[in-house]
Amino acid sequence: MSFRYFYSGRAVAAAVVAVACALAVVVASAQTKQRTVRDGVFSAAQVKRGQRVFKSICSNCHEIEEFTGPGAYLEDHDGKTLWETFEFVSEMMPDDDPGSLDPAEYTAVLAYIFSVYGLPVGNVDLPIDRKALELITVTRPKPAG
Ligand code: HEC
Repeated sequence: MSFRYFYSGRAVAAAVVAVACALAVVVASAQTKQRTVRDGVFSAAQVKRGQRVFKSICSNCHEIEEFTGPGAYLEDHDGKTLWETFEFVSEMMPDDDPGSLDPAEYTAVLAYIFSVYGLPVGNVDLPIDRKALELITVTRPKPAG
């Protein structure tokens, strides 16, 4: 192998490494847009609105503990996106009149359920937008301490 070829081989290798690094950076920055329900994804005002919805409608058939207590619904949703949870509730509930609430009432009731589950309040409302909800993963609250 002449020096020339040897040198250009190294240049190619260096370029491959550089591209791989650039891709890694792109992937990492895409992931930072991913959030979980631990990141303060709903507001306190939204929780209040959701509590009213829950008390007036959902509590006819459900206790809040069914969704938040040990072994409950939100544990089953661990690792799913918030969109899946939203879609289920907004298409299936209330059982006697599915889809009868505003999307904003469904997100509010989810905010309430998450808050009772032990997840933190943030500054802005949970969005109703599908793309945004798909970027939020459902997970358990941080263990205390
Ligand atoms: C008329 C009665 C009724 C009302 C009102 C109602 N639900 Fe339900 N809900 C049900 C029934 C019945 C099921 C199915 C239970 C099962 O199979 O475990 C269910 C299941 C669910 C589940 C899935 C639970 C699981 O473990 O799979 C969620 C979440 C839920 N309801 C949320 C809500 C919310 C939020 C509201 C208020 C907007 C609501 N429901 C109002 C009757 C009702």
